[in-house]
Amino acid sequence: MRTIAVLNHKGGVGKTTFCGSTAQALALIGFRVLVIDNDSQHNLSSMLGVGVKHPNIRDVYIADNSTAPSQLLKSVRKTDIPGLHIITSCRDLSDSDVPHNTHLKNALQTCSLGRFYDYLLIDNAPGIDHLQASAIIASDEIFVPTELKQFAVDGIAEMELTLRERYPDGARITKIVPNFYKNVKRQNSFIAALSKLFPGRVTETSIPFDSVFDELVTDNKILFLHRLYSKGAACYIKLVHELFNLDEDTVWEQVKGKRDNKIKDDARKRLTARKIDGGMS
Ligand SMILES: Nc1ncnc2c1ncn2[C@@H]1O[C@H](COP(=O)(O)OP(=O)(O)O)[C@@H](O)[C@H]1O
Ligand SMILES: [Mg+2]
Repeated sequence: MRTIAVLNHKGGVGKTTFCGSTAQALALIGFRVLVIDNDSQHNLSSMLGVGVKHPNIRDVYIADNSTAPSQLLKSVRKTDIPGLHIITSCRDLSDSDVPHNTHLKNALQTCSLGRFYDYLLIDNAPGIDHLQASAIIASDEIFVPTELKQFAVDGIAEMELTLRERYPDGARITKIVPNFYKNVKRQNSFIAALSKLFPGRVTETSIPFDSVFDELVTDNKILFLHRLYSKGAACYIKLVHELFNLDEDTVWEQVKGKRDNKIKDDARKRLTARKIDGGMS
C-alpha cells in the first residue's frame, strides 16, 4: 500500500479537493483506495457524501495502543464510488487527541491495512502540528497542492525546512501540485520559481481554476460521478496519470467505464425501488 499525506500549512489551497478527486480517480481506475479525513473541519467526509460517522479517526487517536487497530477497522466506511472507502473525521478532533505521533502509524501497521488497499491518502488541516505529524510519520510520501502566490511559494520553502529539522532522516515533499492555475505570466513565473526550488518535484500538470469544484460542494455532487466531462475532471485524470505513472488513455477508459456502470446500476436500483413502492401502494 502506498501511503500519501496531503499537506500544506496553508488553508484553502485545494488539499481536500486534491485528496478527494485523486482518490475517486484511482478507485474508478480499479485500485482499492482508502482516505482518512484527518481534519476537524471534516470537508473530505462531506465531499465524498459520507458525512461524520462514529467511530471515526478521533476514536482511533483516543483509543489505547491495543484497541486503536480495531477502532481503525470499525471506522472504515464505503463511499458511493466502488472501491473507495473513507475514515471520517469529526468536529471535536484536535491535536490534543494524539497520544504520540507514531500512534496512527502503529495502528495502521498492526491491522495490516496494506493487505486491503493499494493506496491510502490522508487529508490534513492546515499547519504542521501533532495531527499532521501523525499523517507524515504514517506516510511514504507527501503531496503538496498549492496556489500560485508569493506567500505560497515562500511557505512551501519554509515547510521543507521544517520537515528537514523535525525529520532529519525522513519525510520530504514528494510532489507539489499547482492549483487554481490561470495561464498568465505571473502564475507561470511562480511555477518556474517552484521548479527551481524543487527540481523534478513540481507536477507538469497544473489544475486550472474551475468553478465546477465549488458547484460540487454546493450541490452535494461527486466530481467523477456527476461532472466527468468538466475541465477539472479532465485535468485530474491527467494529473493522476502523471503522479502514478499510468497510461492516460487507459485511465480515461477505465474511469469512464466504471463510472457509467455505476450510474446504470444506480438507475436500475432506483427503478426497482420505485416498482416495489408502486406495487405496495
Ligand atoms: N482548481 C480549483 N478551481 C476552483 N476552485 C477550487 C479549485 N480547487 C479547489 N477549489 C475550491 O477552493 C476551496 C478550497 O479548496 P479546499 O480543497 O477545501 O482547500 P483546503 O483543503 O486546502 O482548505 C473550495 O471551495 C474548493 O471547491
Ligand atoms: Mg481541507
